[in-house]
Formats: sequence, structure tokens, C-alpha cells
Amino acid sequence: MRGTVSFKTCGSVLVTGANRGLELQIVQNLASGGFSPGKIIATTRNLSGSQVETYLMSELHLLVVILYVVRQDSIETCVEEVERLLDEDQGLNLLINIAGVNLEADFQVVTAEMTMENFRTNAVAPLMITKVICGRVGSGGKGAMGIQRAAVVNVSSLLGSVELNWGDRANVFKWYPYRTSKVSVLRLTSRCMAVDLEPDGILCVAVHPGWVHTDMGGSRGERRGAPLSPEESVSSVLSVIGALTAKDHGTFLNYTGEQLPW
Ligand SMILES: NC(=O)c1ccc[n+]([C@@H]2O[C@H](COP(=O)([O-])OP(=O)(O)OC[C@H]3O[C@@H](n4cnc5c(N)ncnc54)[C@H](OP(=O)(O)O)[C@@H]3O)[C@@H](O)[C@H]2O)c1
Repeated sequence: MRGTVSFKTCGSVLVTGANRGLELQIVQNLASGGFSPGKIIATTRNLSGSQVETYLMSELHLLVVILYVVRQDSIETCVEEVERLLDEDQGLNLLINIAGVNLEADFQVVTAEMTMENFRTNAVAPLMITKVICGRVGSGGKGAMGIQRAAVVNVSSLLGSVELNWGDRANVFKWYPYRTSKVSVLRLTSRCMAVDLEPDGILCVAVHPGWVHTDMGGSRGERRGAPLSPEESVSSVLSVIGALTAKDHGTFLNYTGEQLPW
């Protein structure tokens, strides 16, 4: 587990897909716990009836913006809104690309359409959102790499690791669209964005949140069920994010902070 949590020095955070799941839990923890970043921008594709809207109307300090992550027009509109929400001379400090889908399909049933849909949400969307945000809103503060300056956290999965998914494990989760999309997120983060954003001091890292009880992760505690609650996963993930430094740039980190193999 990592040490110090430095969100108090982070001026602004944007979280994608915050309608439910880990995405919503991140927003809740940031808004209500001891993390306390400056501005929390929660994005959701569906404001009406959204859980985020409920939190917005409660005591929590949140800014909510519509973002349908696979639509370029929605990304552009969202970023215009984010520009308005941030102070004039300040960029965004932390972008958490986490909105995701899992189209479970093995070799027998997988289709091109399923694979493309999974790719668009899990891999293409983080790329396009980061590109527009970094181009228009720019990076955050100055100084050493970390969330007090500027960081992009792309949520991948252990199932995206080539090295860790061989033998017995490769036989369990035969989800072609999901697994290939999460491999792509790792490459995109660690060997593409990390190279291009480094000159601007923007730290790029991929994170595995653990196997968590959500709509996607399934039930907790049953046989082969998710061992972690959203609260357990997110507390740990936020501790890792809060302690990011230059040595983490371009890596793939577990929710506990250890480096994972690609
Ligand atoms: N849960 C796990 O065990 C686990 C393990 C490893 C990695 N992960 C990764 O962690 C992330 C969060 O997973 P989760 O378990 O929280 O999933 P989840 O419970 O299914 O929630 C997914 C969230 O993403 C949003 N979303 C999906 N497509 C979107 C789109 N096109 N535009 C905007 N929002 C969209 C959903 O919004 P709507 O409500 O509008 O659909 C929802 O709020 C994913 O990237 C997942 O791959 C999860």
C-alpha cells in the first residue's frame, strides 16, 4: 500500500462515467472523505435519474457535466464546460478515465461489432478525451510530476495483462472484446501517451482496481465472486493515485500500489 495521500494539493479532478459503480464510488470518496481535492468534476452520460444528480443535490461539493464518452461531439461540449468550471489560469490536474463496458463473448460468439463497441468505450474514448482535454484545458500546475501538477489515470484490468493471463487463468475469462480492449489501454497509456505527454510534465499511469463487487464485477463473496467492495477498492486506488510520482510514469499499477507486468 502506498503512503501519503496528497489530494489536498490537487486543484481539480475529472472522473468519467460517474453514474454508478467504481466511478461513482470515486466521486463519493473524493467529495466526502479526507481526500478533499479543489474541484471534483463528475461526468455522466445520463443526468436524468443519475445517482450523481442525487449527490449533487445533497451536501456534497460536486460539479456534474454530461459526457457520453464514445461521442466526439459530447467530448467537445464537455471540455468547453470544464473550461468554464476551472479557474481562468488553471488547467485540469487529474483526469481519471474509468467509464467502461464489458461485452462478454468467447471465441464462438464474438462478433466484430461487439469488439468495436468494447474498444470504442474502453480504449478509444480515453484517448480522445485525454487528447481534447490536454489540448484545450492544458495541464495543471507546476513542479514535480504528480496529481498536484497533472496526471492521466486510465483504468485498465488485470485481464489486460498478457503475462498474467496464460495457463489456467486464460481459460477462465474468455472475454475477447473486453480483454483486447484492456490490453489496448495499457499500450495506449504506458507506451503512447506517456511518451507524448511527458514533455508537458503530465504523468500517465494505468491502474487495475481489483476484482470488485459492481454491476460489471459481479457478486461479492460467492464462489469465484468479487472479493472487494467498491469502498475497499476505491480507498486503495485513491491512495495510490494520491502518492503518484515521476517513477510511476508509464507503469501499470495494482490497486495496492505494486507494479503489474504487461
Ligand atoms: N468491477 C471490476 O471487478 C473491475 C475489474 C477490473 C477493471 N474494472 C474496470 O473499472 C472500471 C469501472 O468498472 P465498474 O465495475 O464500476 O463498471 P460498472 O459498474 O458497469 O459501471 C460502469 C460505468 O461506466 C459508465 N459508462 C459506460 N459506458 C459509458 C459511456 N459510453 N459514456 C459514459 N459513461 C459510460 C456507466 O454509465 P451508465 O450507468 O450510464 O451505463 C457506469 O456508470 C471499468 O473500466 C472496468 O473495466 C472493473
